[in-house]
Amino acid sequence: MTNIIEGYIGKRVDGKKSRIPARLDFIQSATGLFLGLFMWGHMLFVATILISEDALNWVAGVFEGGLFLSEKQPWLVSIVVFVVFCIFVVHACLGMRKLPINFRQYQIYKAHSINMKHSDTSLWFWQAKTGFIMFFLGSAHLIIMMTNPEITAQVSGGRMYSHFMWPFYLILLFAVEIHGGVGLYRLCVKWGWFEGKDSKVTRARLTKLKWALTAFFLVLGLLTLGAYVKTGYKYADGTYAAYQINNDVKGYIK
Ligand code: HEM
Repeated sequence: MTNIIEGYIGKRVDGKKSRIPARLDFIQSATGLFLGLFMWGHMLFVATILISEDALNWVAGVFEGGLFLSEKQPWLVSIVVFVVFCIFVVHACLGMRKLPINFRQYQIYKAHSINMKHSDTSLWFWQAKTGFIMFFLGSAHLIIMMTNPEITAQVSGGRMYSHFMWPFYLILLFAVEIHGGVGLYRLCVKWGWFEGKDSKVTRARLTKLKWALTAFFLVLGLLTLGAYVKTGYKYADGTYAAYQINNDVKGYIK
């Protein structure tokens, strides 16, 4: 009953302000922090293809339990992807609370960001737009990874080149790097992390760090994307035939 009253009037039965919005904000921040840091790890993991195809295959093998199991188990990757997907969905659901719910609200936001010329307000707009893009592209990628957990440079290259998925990843790359970079920056500002004596100086430093990290991961991501497309092109014409030992692709011979 108290929840219904709180739901209707936004106040608790004791007249105090409902704590639900603050709790939801906290969960959104916590899931955002996890996804932001996860993406840093993820980009470094997929970028191992820049070292060599074997380097990426080795790292992928580690996620399949290769370091402690006698036989690799790709379903372990599916479980990790499932957990990330659940956190992704919770974060997206909570993010929807902040999106303009109708055209009138969108107009107000737009007018506000134009008049204010406040960088953080414009950044928020970019975060909303990139978040919207990831509703679709991020979910598609996660479902592909959950149902195809055998990760190898050759399979990923094939997805990028032969299945022509590189434009999909190019859009997702820019969306996730802009969204994640702005998100981590806003978390630092919102929760006062790294706050120095002068908040203006702190904010200026955080802004610089944000753009430096976004630029670093975009450059790394574009090089990685290029490497996957090149790998896919290499195996596309069938010059390389796969050789397997015990259902395990050991490599490719000309
Ligand atoms: C545990 C979850 C995840 C796994 C196992 C995973 C795995 C991979 C793999 C293997 C690739 C190489 C391309 C391919 O095989 O198709 C890739 C690329 C990519 N993933 Fe993920 N991914 C995960 C979650 C995410 C999430 C949540 C996002 C963003 C919403 C994301 C964004 C990207 C982007 C942008 C690329 C292209 C990277 C580049 O080439 O620069 N991934 N991922």
